[in-house]
Amino acid sequence: MSKRLNGKIALITGAGSGIGRASALRFAQDGAVVYVNDYDAGSAASVVALIREEGGAAELAVADVTDPAAVQALVDRVVAERGRLDVLFNNAGGQQPRPTHEIGIEDYHRIVALNLHSAFYGVHAVLPVMMRQGGGVILSTSSGAGIGAVEGLAIYGAAKAGMASLMGSIAAEYGRHGIRANTISPGPMDTPALRTYLNTVPDGAAIFASQVPVGRLGTAQDIAAAAAFLASDDAAFISGVVLPVDGAIHARLASPQLPTR
Ligand SMILES: NC(=O)c1ccc[n+]([C@@H]2O[C@H](COP(=O)([O-])OP(=O)(O)OC[C@H]3O[C@@H](n4cnc5c(N)ncnc54)[C@H](O)[C@@H]3O)[C@@H](O)[C@H]2O)c1
Repeated sequence: MSKRLNGKIALITGAGSGIGRASALRFAQDGAVVYVNDYDAGSAASVVALIREEGGAAELAVADVTDPAAVQALVDRVVAERGRLDVLFNNAGGQQPRPTHEIGIEDYHRIVALNLHSAFYGVHAVLPVMMRQGGGVILSTSSGAGIGAVEGLAIYGAAKAGMASLMGSIAAEYGRHGIRANTISPGPMDTPALRTYLNTVPDGAAIFASQVPVGRLGTAQDIAAAAAFLASDDAAFISGVVLPVDGAIHARLASPQLPTR
């Protein structure tokens, strides 16, 4: 049986940990050649090693995605080595919640650079490549904070909403070139980044899980599975969507509620 991403050349950013790591492993298991990006060389190298141990194909791709020249150089390298780039997954990002009035101007720019500008740098670098080769897939990891309000994540949420808007516009503008662009909006996924936050209070993980309609935190693999589907030809007519992978959090009306039972 042919694998879902057989022979596809994929670049995943922030793939040394969490969602990116799980996606790199999953894409490789599904047959892709995965360029594993992170600015943390050690963690990215360990993911490359793991993929190779499993018999998959991976390359180390260290770069800071907030540096446009570094992103361009990375895309140029992939194309020089492979002749094409089929899937760009803009996944690097994040922010620990903090009261908005405590966020200084420098931090504001840093948060937006990581959670919005980086996606544009990737898009800007891959569009000419994908137009030349007659198609491609761009995915971005947004957040529930980009759909609804989350206290302490105002700037991050604004950047992630911008990222989703960017993906929708690219989908509309470049669909005729065979390019699809989609956004994944994770709920609370049990990754090192979320654990850092949950560990700031006793029973943080249980408190979070009790507020998720399906009754558990998500896993990085939950996002990886959705990303592998969206990257594949099975999703050939899906473009411009924001897919919540969040255990029904976004579906719940944010209104005061009394227990029903
Ligand atoms: N975990 C969640 O609950 C959750 C929820 C919503 C959205 N997200 C989003 O999912 C994505 C992945 O988050 P995660 O939870 O897996 O985080 P994580 O911290 O486990 O992994 C993020 C990775 O990105 C890398 N990275 C950070 N800045 C970088 C940069 N400038 N250049 C290259 N690499 C960089 C880090 O080194 C790390 O390996 C982020 O965009 C985050 O905003 C996560």
